[in-house]
Amino acid sequence: MGTARVRVTLSPRRDRSYDILVREGLLDGLADATGLLEDATSVFIVTDSNVARIYAPQVKEGLSRPGRTAEVVVFPSGEANKNIETAWSLASSLSGLGADRSSVLIALGGGVAGDLTGFVASVFKRGIGYVQVPTTLLAQVDSSIGGKTGIDAPWGKNQVGTFHQPLGVLTDPLALNTLPRAEMLNGFAEVVKCSIVADRKMFEEASATADPGAAISTELILHACKIKAEIVSKDEEETNLRAVLNFGHTVGHALESASNYRLSHGSCVFLGMLAEGWIASRLGILDRGELERLEGFLVPLTDSLEGPEPFDKPRLLRFALADKKSAASTIRMSLPARIGKMHATEDGSYRIPVDKETFGASLDYLRRVTTRG
Ligand SMILES: NC(=O)c1ccc[n+]([C@@H]2O[C@H](COP(=O)([O-])OP(=O)(O)OC[C@H]3O[C@@H](n4cnc5c(N)ncnc54)[C@H](O)[C@@H]3O)[C@@H](O)[C@H]2O)c1
Repeated sequence: MGTARVRVTLSPRRDRSYDILVREGLLDGLADATGLLEDATSVFIVTDSNVARIYAPQVKEGLSRPGRTAEVVVFPSGEANKNIETAWSLASSLSGLGADRSSVLIALGGGVAGDLTGFVASVFKRGIGYVQVPTTLLAQVDSSIGGKTGIDAPWGKNQVGTFHQPLGVLTDPLALNTLPRAEMLNGFAEVVKCSIVADRKMFEEASATADPGAAISTELILHACKIKAEIVSKDEEETNLRAVLNFGHTVGHALESASNYRLSHGSCVFLGMLAEGWIASRLGILDRGELERLEGFLVPLTDSLEGPEPFDKPRLLRFALADKKSAASTIRMSLPARIGKMHATEDGSYRIPVDKETFGASLDYLRRVTTRG
């Protein structure tokens, strides 16, 4: 496959539209892949300690040329470091290395590197350009696209952030060859979500993946990028439609937080899609047969639920009510009408109110479906 190009088209008032380029082997020749860095006299590759070891030398070499310097700035890997201290330390390193308003940051890594680098780029000298170079599956199909940046705060995840669109996204599926299995599954959950939200045929393709913890096809990655790009192009700042990308995440995030992150993100999203599918079926939005299709595919993908009770209703309800889609004391979620299409209310809203009793009953359903046979 040659280079595939997906356009993210944003408000014509400011020229911020950009391309996602997807090509196996792209990391080897980043500078040639795009004219994005033509005017930059200095680029700074911001990456975490794991990715720095594997990919930074090759990316640095690819980006250096006469008239342009390339430096690597490393932070310790892990979600625990996606915070204000790391952002401050990155800004301080950039300043020390002489970064200026014409410098471009390269976010090399997973969602943590992307969110942190995007955040720093949005505030450093009141905003400079950055390019996303995602190396986890989750980042390739989800977090690198759409311009949401952020850091975690003591009172919650992603509670401080900005919308700051990248200059472009450069995706090399071969980077996934070094990604651990658990991280592949975290990203696969987002691929499956995209298919349920927007493309039934893609759902069939995803279901046919032999071992998603090991590898998935470049076509599926591209498909997911197209879906996210199209939705972001229609609703950049999540006033309504973009909320469909949260399918499975209201219950999923509640499970993840309530387990103190003992359960993996992917598994929580698989469980969340099941619970929210069940709610859609209970509300008469989704056919029972469609829910059974979801069950057949998703249940085997969830982690073993041994250990502390994962479905503690009062605790999960508290987390769901704190979710960003829930206003006041009402839980809201995006629900599927069928596999490949999301439900909208008569007035066109994709945020469907769900009462607490139905939310609680969906947890009973999860318990039943995950302890079967
Ligand atoms: N901005 C958005 O729209 C958006 C959307 C979804 C998620 N997110 C954020 O993304 C983050 C999660 O991202 P993630 O799952 O990519 O986690 P991550 O960035 O922590 O990466 C997971 C692990 O994989 C390692 N890694 C990365 N690439 C590798 C490679 N090619 N080979 C070997 N190891 C590699 C990393 O060092 C890390 O240890 C969360 O902070 C979440 O809030 C943001």
